[in-house]
Amino acid sequence: MAGAGPTAVLSSGKKMPLLGLGTWQSKAEEVYNAVKVAIDAGYRHIDTAWVYKNEKEVGQAIKEKIAEGKIKREDVFVTTKLFTAFSRPEHVRECMMQSLADLGLDYVDLYLIHSPLCFKYGSNPFAHAGNPEEVYDEVDYVDTWKGMEPLVDEGLAKSIGVSNFNKQQLERLVQNCRIKPAVNQVELHPYLAQQDLVDFCKKNNILVTAYSGLGAPALPKMMSNKTDDPVLMEDPSIVAIGKKYGKSAAQVLIRYQLDRGVSVIPKSVTPSRIQANFDVMNFSLSKEDLATLAGLDRNLRYLNGERFSTHKYYPY
Ligand SMILES: NC(=O)c1ccc[n+]([C@@H]2O[C@H](COP(=O)([O-])OP(=O)(O)OC[C@H]3O[C@@H](n4cnc5c(N)ncnc54)[C@H](OP(=O)(O)O)[C@@H]3O)[C@@H](O)[C@H]2O)c1
Repeated sequence: MAGAGPTAVLSSGKKMPLLGLGTWQSKAEEVYNAVKVAIDAGYRHIDTAWVYKNEKEVGQAIKEKIAEGKIKREDVFVTTKLFTAFSRPEHVRECMMQSLADLGLDYVDLYLIHSPLCFKYGSNPFAHAGNPEEVYDEVDYVDTWKGMEPLVDEGLAKSIGVSNFNKQQLERLVQNCRIKPAVNQVELHPYLAQQDLVDFCKKNNILVTAYSGLGAPALPKMMSNKTDDPVLMEDPSIVAIGKKYGKSAAQVLIRYQLDRGVSVIPKSVTPSRIQANFDVMNFSLSKEDLATLAGLDRNLRYLNGERFSTHKYYPY
């Protein structure tokens, strides 16, 4: 994975580039170009999900870059996620096979349980206009995990992990699994440092991936009921740190995670931003600047998922 930037070795023994391209809310026609621009810029890690409805275009872009000779399949780390309406162990494989077919791949590098929250098979909890409780399902995420493990045995997923798991949920999963979760992907940025969770993951050899690391400035209403959250990329301390290094606030936020040993997957469909977000390999933040960023923690969750607050596995 030459040129991929810093990498981590997962508990599965596989290497994962820490910096990847996020694709949530990237429209199909935009994500195709975004992935191609990202691969040209040096990204070797792409994050998608069944529910993003863009896996076909993500896969098409990867396929073309392989055909061009720019990369080989093994050079690019592809993550996708099991949608919450496939949480019953007997449905896990179905969701995986749909993602593989759409991506046009024989395997993914990382397959994540998208969330411990589980919903009825076939339901769309985000489109559901009524009471969210009508679509809740009673599935233990430890049972979902039992549907994930065979995917590794079959070679369909090189590594498996989780997303949106809190410390208690992870602790229980770690105690009740055959294959340990390699990754936990959660919201993480200076306003939501989650140091306790990060420390627990480090101790248990679980790599943390930061989502919404730029503060998710284009957050859809379904993910939050708040309207007055501060804009992370406009935080004066972050902007001031950037000025010292000749970098933007976005670049400081990305470098912050890399310097903490955390993976980060900024989303963009704008070519200049995709390139700029990767242009973070030529500096690192001083101890003092890292401490300043750590000091901004205010437990602010942009994606608070309030709509599902009555779910038994909330809060994540
Ligand atoms: N597991 C989960 O439950 C979960 C939840 C949320 C996100 N994720 C993953 O994490 C990825 C990142 O999180 P996110 O999409 O929520 O938010 P994010 O990466 O914090 O922010 C993305 C937004 O920032 C803008 N942006 C990107 N680079 C910029 C720059 N250099 N300057 C100014 N604005 C910039 C993008 O706009 P343009 O695209 O218009 O350039 C987009 O609106 C997702 O795409 C997804 O892959 C996972």
